[in-house]
Amino acid sequence: MSKTNHAQWSSRFSFILAATGSAVGLGNIWKFPYMTGESGGAAFVLVYLLCIALIGLPILVTEWMLGRRGQSNPVNTMATVAEQAGKSRAWLLVGVAGVLGAFFILSFYSVIGGWSLYYTLGSVTGDFSGQDADGIGALFNGMLANPGLLLLWHSIFMLLVIGIVARGVTKGLEGAVNVLMPALALLLVILIGYGMTTGHFGQAVEFLFSPDWSKLNGETVLAALGHAFFTLSLGMGIMLAYGSYLGKEVNLIKTARTVVIMDTVIALGAGLAIFPIVFANDLDLASGPSLIFVTLPLAFGNMGGGTILGLMFFLLLTFAALTSAISLLEPVTEFLEERTPLSRAASAVVAGIGAWALGIAALLSFNDWSSLTLFGLGIFDLLDKLTSKFMLPLTGLGAIIFAAWVLDKDVVREELGLGANGFKLWNLVTRFVAPIGVLVVFFASL
Ligand code: PHE
Ligand code: NA
Repeated sequence: MSKTNHAQWSSRFSFILAATGSAVGLGNIWKFPYMTGESGGAAFVLVYLLCIALIGLPILVTEWMLGRRGQSNPVNTMATVAEQAGKSRAWLLVGVAGVLGAFFILSFYSVIGGWSLYYTLGSVTGDFSGQDADGIGALFNGMLANPGLLLLWHSIFMLLVIGIVARGVTKGLEGAVNVLMPALALLLVILIGYGMTTGHFGQAVEFLFSPDWSKLNGETVLAALGHAFFTLSLGMGIMLAYGSYLGKEVNLIKTARTVVIMDTVIALGAGLAIFPIVFANDLDLASGPSLIFVTLPLAFGNMGGGTILGLMFFLLLTFAALTSAISLLEPVTEFLEERTPLSRAASAVVAGIGAWALGIAALLSFNDWSSLTLFGLGIFDLLDKLTSKFMLPLTGLGAIIFAAWVLDKDVVREELGLGANGFKLWNLVTRFVAPIGVLVVFFASL
């Protein structure tokens, strides 16, 4: 039984905005550059791009298609679609895993969203101006060492997310994405321009695009695959949930292509903006999650108009993080709302507080609880690796196997509006290339 009247997106365009809002976020600007730095550059980038095209894109289409057929939250959707196909409702486990993944990711995502908020404020107060690399590094480490400060900004960020989802105004934010994307792209272009003045731009381009295949191993390939899922918001029930609002007339493949291109352009742009600064200042390529927080303030602190540009940048980053975080809270909320007696607002609050509490454990792993590890990983890293490297790929695998092998062929063909040859190609990719790709990467890395 569903309490909500399942509404539909007003147009293909507003759907693209919402999906892009979910996809483009910290994953592109914060995570992609630092993973690239850690994983040795171009070889990682090329494997990542391959994963996006051959695995991410088809799974994105698949999740939307299932969502559009199921018309409900991710768990009910999987159950309904399986039942329609005469199969076991146990496929709903794919939905359950997705909702759980979203919950875990939201917990640490909000911590980084908090960093972004804190740096927005730091830009206003001019903390970065005239600082050298050591000064900027000290600022960052000071923040990490201060649990109260991290908690404050994590809490503010999560409150914003809960507030927006509880009031059901997520759609009001669609329009904002329309302004956000071009503005973000423009700021990246400005930063890339700054990178060109450092004399290290060529080095950055080479690092990003000229592969040294010896840098590749099972671990980095799995990281690339996991990040392809993370960056496209796949394997979490999010795109499943979004697809449930989608009208029949929307061309899924074309729409997915648009979203994937935007996401990829922003990630590569971030890489091109950040690595010249890394090389120019001799910073550590493998500095991990701190990377953008020690490079970009350095650029802003030393360029004309840097204060205002820095403010704009971190504000936009915060906003991009918010639109993604909202999409993370949405499926958990929708699930509670449709499966328990809780109202929408109460569902959002309960889910948000749960993720907030888990986020506290994540932020403590940077300081007070840093010695607390499992499999050699702190809580933050554990949540990150568990979701990106295991939950997302496996859930995505479940969805694509279901759609490619279990669902009726004619249903799929009709949903996608494909001709004979297009459908052959689709089958080849979704039955073999994508699932085998995921499995091979997965087992090769174990
Ligand atoms: N795709 C978002 C990003 O790149 C993060 C995200 C992951 C959002 C999973 C929703 C679900 O930042
Ligand atoms: Na992304």
